[in-house]
Amino acid sequence: MKVLITASTGELGRKIIDSLISLGFPKFRIIAGARNVEKAKEIYDDIEVRHCDFDDKNSLLSAFDLCSLVHIIPTLDLPEKRIVQMNDTIDAAKEKSVHRITWSGLVASEKTSKFSIAPYFVYSECKLMQSGLDYTILRNGMYFDPVFDWIPDIIKMKRLKYPVSRGKIAYISREDIAYATAKVISEDGHENKEYNLTSPRAYSMEELAALIGGFTGTDVSFKKISDDEYRLLCYNDGLPEPITEILLTMYKAVDNNEFLASSDFETITGRQALSPNKYLKKYYKAQV
Ligand SMILES: NC(=O)c1ccc[n+]([C@@H]2O[C@H](COP(=O)([O-])OP(=O)(O)OC[C@H]3O[C@@H](n4cnc5c(N)ncnc54)[C@H](OP(=O)(O)O)[C@@H]3O)[C@@H](O)[C@H]2O)c1
Repeated sequence: MKVLITASTGELGRKIIDSLISLGFPKFRIIAGARNVEKAKEIYDDIEVRHCDFDDKNSLLSAFDLCSLVHIIPTLDLPEKRIVQMNDTIDAAKEKSVHRITWSGLVASEKTSKFSIAPYFVYSECKLMQSGLDYTILRNGMYFDPVFDWIPDIIKMKRLKYPVSRGKIAYISREDIAYATAKVISEDGHENKEYNLTSPRAYSMEELAALIGGFTGTDVSFKKISDDEYRLLCYNDGLPEPITEILLTMYKAVDNNEFLASSDFETITGRQALSPNKYLKKYYKAQV
């Protein structure tokens, strides 16, 4: 039986497939599910590609044929649309007798979360747990990759700017999330379990600024910005207003300490996820 990875043209989907292959999972059992089949075929020349659009239930039904496991990577659509996508995906998996669904969720998946899209994550977890299928919920921590990509600008500004006060974040890289996800997909014993994927240490924004400053040899400090200053930064970056408003609530969740560290990554993989310090040591030093 085969495993299908949805959103396989995205950064996380690609890394999950790369990790499965490096773990020795047979390529003939991997299916790259994609909304854009042509794009996926350019990425994967020796992996089966199937049309798999969360907005087209017929494509999901065809894609899941003879699959024992489907990994869901949610879209970045607004929550109302994502709920329909989740319902259709689970229903299609049930109709096609998929055995297990593994799911990339979010650590701030709590009813009391300040993050405005948390209700979507809570709903999706409940839907999955009540589906009657085996499931594994992987609640992903905040990606470190965008912070890393932002470093050249941070150096120019000599400032790390977020609308955050005292909250801390146990960042994790997409690479580590993908590795733990591939382990859970390819190994037994993860049925009906929930894991929070983070690195082992949460950083305050001041600590993160000092870390980046130390690595880059720049005097970087953290500056808390107001919600309106953040709105202006996003507007200048061309971000749509509804997304900006969602992100502002994400930083309220950071101040509510909803992105703290868990040891689940080590439980799954037997090693610790790279903290920002180790990630910078590995990738920033290699880059300069
Ligand atoms: N933890 C964090 O800090 C954090 C930050 C950002 C995002 N996320 C989450 O991470 C996930 C994606 O991450 P990523 O880095 O892989 O993003 P990405 O590189 O932007 O990839 C998004 C993927 O979603 C696919 N997609 C969009 N709409 C779709 C649809 N209707 N049907 C099927 N596929 C669809 C895209 O397909 P196309 O190639 O056709 O566009 C693409 O493959 C999302 O679940 C998002 O919520 C987490």
